[in-house]
Amino acid sequence: MGLCGICLRLVVLVEMLLLMAANAAPTPPQLAQVPPDCPTICGDLQIVYPFGTKDGCYLNKAFLITCNHTHYNPPKPFLRESTIVVTNITLEEGRMQVESLVSKDCYLKNGTMTDDSIYTYFSINQFTISHTKNKFTVIGCESYGRIKGKIGRKNYSEGCISECKNKDDVTDGDCSGSGCCQIDIPKGLQEIKVRSSSFNNHSKVWQFNPCTYAFVIEESQFRFRSSNLSNTTARVPTAIDWSITGQGNCDKAKNNASYACKSNSSCYQPPANNNADGYLCKCDDGYHGNPYLPNGCQGVSLGFVMLLVGSSLFFFMFKKRRLIKLKEKFFQQNGGFLLQQQLSKRTGASDTAKIFSEEELKKATNNFDEKRIIGRGGYGTVYKGFLTDNNPVAIKKSKIVDQSQIEQFINEVTVLSQINHRNVVKLLGCCLETEVPLLVYEYVTNGTLFDHIHNKDEKPTIPWETRLRIAAETAGVLSYLHSSAATPIIHRDVKSTNILLDDDVTAKVSDFGASKLVPIDEAQLSTMVQGTLGYLDPEYLHTSQLTEKSDVYSFGVVVVELMTRKKVLSFDRPEEERSLVMYFLSWLNAGCLFEILENGIVNDDNREQIREVGELARRCLRVKGEERPTMKEVAMELEGLRRMHKHQWDNVEVNIEETEHLLSETSYTCNNGDGTTSVAANDSMKDHLLMAFDIAR
Ligand SMILES: *[C@@H]1O[C@H](CO)[C@@H](O)[C@H](O)[C@H]1NC(C)=O
Ligand SMILES: *[C@@H]1O[C@H](CO)[C@@H](O)[C@H](O)[C@H]1NC(C)=O
Ligand SMILES: *[C@@H]1O[C@H](CO)[C@@H](O)[C@H](O)[C@H]1NC(C)=O
Ligand SMILES: *[C@@H]1O[C@H](CO)[C@@H](O)[C@H](O)[C@H]1NC(C)=O
Ligand SMILES: *[C@@H]1O[C@H](CO)[C@@H](O)[C@H](O)[C@H]1NC(C)=O
Ligand SMILES: *[C@@H]1O[C@H](CO)[C@@H](O)[C@H](O)[C@H]1NC(C)=O
Ligand SMILES: *[C@@H]1O[C@H](CO)[C@@H](O)[C@H](O)[C@H]1NC(C)=O
Ligand SMILES: *[C@@H]1O[C@H](CO)[C@@H](O)[C@H](O)[C@H]1NC(C)=O
Ligand SMILES: *[C@@H]1O[C@H](CO)[C@@H](O)[C@H](O)[C@H]1NC(C)=O
Ligand SMILES: *[C@@H]1O[C@H](CO)[C@@H](O)[C@H](O)[C@H]1NC(C)=O
Ligand SMILES: *[C@@H]1O[C@H](CO)[C@@H](O)[C@H](O)[C@H]1NC(C)=O
Repeated sequence: MGLCGICLRLVVLVEMLLLMAANAAPTPPQLAQVPPDCPTICGDLQIVYPFGTKDGCYLNKAFLITCNHTHYNPPKPFLRESTIVVTNITLEEGRMQVESLVSKDCYLKNGTMTDDSIYTYFSINQFTISHTKNKFTVIGCESYGRIKGKIGRKNYSEGCISECKNKDDVTDGDCSGSGCCQIDIPKGLQEIKVRSSSFNNHSKVWQFNPCTYAFVIEESQFRFRSSNLSNTTARVPTAIDWSITGQGNCDKAKNNASYACKSNSSCYQPPANNNADGYLCKCDDGYHGNPYLPNGCQGVSLGFVMLLVGSSLFFFMFKKRRLIKLKEKFFQQNGGFLLQQQLSKRTGASDTAKIFSEEELKKATNNFDEKRIIGRGGYGTVYKGFLTDNNPVAIKKSKIVDQSQIEQFINEVTVLSQINHRNVVKLLGCCLETEVPLLVYEYVTNGTLFDHIHNKDEKPTIPWETRLRIAAETAGVLSYLHSSAATPIIHRDVKSTNILLDDDVTAKVSDFGASKLVPIDEAQLSTMVQGTLGYLDPEYLHTSQLTEKSDVYSFGVVVVELMTRKKVLSFDRPEEERSLVMYFLSWLNAGCLFEILENGIVNDDNREQIREVGELARRCLRVKGEERPTMKEVAMELEGLRRMHKHQWDNVEVNIEETEHLLSETSYTCNNGDGTTSVAANDSMKDHLLMAFDIAR
């Protein structure tokens, strides 16, 4: 009894400490100091200051990361304005990882060089190619590779030779010249040219080695295999040393107004870099965080120290196994407990959500096989899985263990547990055993609305009636969220990728991770601006005041997308047309709606209906939230348009002539003869445009 009592108390103490740590640790101290609208993530890359994606977010142009959203999904981070893809940035030791191209020299069986042979050029001005982490590597059996570059003003040129007679001569992991050779690279290279060549056009070894490959690769990421002789990847990871340049060494830089090391941090010369120009910063002893940000280095908290003491004590007393058990229990008491509560509260109890075991979901997704990934959100990955009864489900899993993401998940469950609507994707259950909860949804078969409208090779486009139904269904859900649900809910991320379609092309709204429950007595909430570029309400962006009208705006954008089948932001279009909203409104104001719709969508039956929908979209897109209609009005109007349509047009044939007359008149004003229009952007439109580019930059 006595011993048990002590143990119990200890357990409680440790739980409290863990709780404190859980509350303190995941808040990265640097978040407070970078401007709040600086993206910290691009695709899989975590971006930390001094790096940043737009003005005001990076230290100087050398640290610019260009995040290309328009051509890549997930978006891709490039170094500055180059084509070099960045895969990892770390503050410690000033290191980053990029992808570099492999040079190759390939031959056909008869000895002719193929035309996909390449030599590569790689330049990383101001930073250097790490000489401690990388090796110049050549793969091949009749092969030599050359690397050339400059160190200061001196030319540098090196190479290595790799030979073998047959595949059995080579040893995995051995790069000493048989099938693979490696050499060190010198300090201070910023620019290299790599060329691979063959002594004898690979004629004798062609069967297993038709090419010579040469590249600079991060040594720890590479182990030579005999299979590399016949096939090597097109890109390899290369380590880069970065530092703050242009201010001399530490001694000089300390006196420069642009000195980058902030309070409680100090300057040091990177060991890998005896370059007089260039330095790094690190937090002083007892501090941790980001030394490049004001107040980025913070003292190690008391809670943390106590946690260390507490948990080592704990380890001492109990076996590791018990700690893991406790963690599980602990998790349940935090997120898990809340989740369970939320789930048990679900009304319409016929289909209560289920608690799945981790084992079950691992099996369902083939151990979270990459091939099963059907989508990636800002904070999670969605897998397709099959339960034991062979029913398909969608399983959402957080990418990294991070308190804020767990909150988003719990938020989603909280929100979904209050919704019961045929046009909302159904939550089937969740799994609480893992560190991050996994959510299980019904599997919606036909993908996202985005895929349907922007997939160019999909021949049969969705007919107008279906688009109108999708719009009406989506509006219905949003109206329901805003008004009929027990506590009003603002979705906050309405966009075509969050509208799923099932096999009879019924819309199902998904992704409530960012949604907000609005207490009934508060008409608006002050929040951190969150949403998706191109769909974001400009008023919300300026004021941070979240209201239901933000969803109305985003919905308006989706309607325009449905009508025009164009992307909401496209850098392929001329500058004034990059923002779809801007583009749409200017043409609409000029009376040229029909010129920007998808070809072939308008016919005599639906012309008036389309015009009305265009007007409705215009009202949804008003810059002032209060001038926009409510979602309920929008939903009713769309339903009305759908229902009245047939009936109306049976009776109004006389009007058609008039409409056509009107049309020809407006198209006359639209056409300036040189492909331009006579429309000038008015102030309210400029707002949309500015907004789009403020963030895009
Ligand atoms: C994104 O990448 C594509 C293809 O590489 C390129 O054409 C486009 O200009 C890039 N966009 C931006 C904003 O860099
Ligand atoms: C980035 O690099 C650091 C240091 O090498 C490593 O610890 C970390 O796991 C890497 N992150 C990713 C996402 O690869
Ligand atoms: C080798 O084969 C390619 C295509 O198979 C052909 O175009 C080329 O002329 C041939 N070269 C010689 C030297 O036979
Ligand atoms: C390939 O190399 C062999 C030996 O050097 C030579 O005889 C032959 O002409 C070469 N073939 C071509 C297409 O260059
Ligand atoms: C360095 O190489 C370039 C060509 O790559 C050459 O023009 C130049 O003369 C060389 N400089 C020295 C000092 O050898
Ligand atoms: C090379 O390997 C990749 C994956 O490792 C594979 O997708 C590709 O088909 C291979 N190419 C050849 C020519 O074997
Ligand atoms: C070498 O081969 C291994 C095993 O097939 C593969 O995983 C690796 O990506 C290859 N390396 C390169 C640089 O292609
Ligand atoms: C101080 O830093 C700025 C910006 O990095 C640089 O342009 C300037 O030359 C530096 N001044 C001195 C005296 O080094
Ligand atoms: C840490 O920085 C703060 C704010 O600049 C300063 O007041 C404090 O003295 C610093 N602590 C140490 C140990 O330098
Ligand atoms: C929706 O999915 C079903 C079943 O996968 C398929 O038969 C149908 O053609 C799809 N419809 C559309 C519009 O893609
Ligand atoms: C300016 O745009 C708004 C809506 O975007 C429209 O209501 C107004 O008529 C336009 N004004 C002019 C002068 O075109």
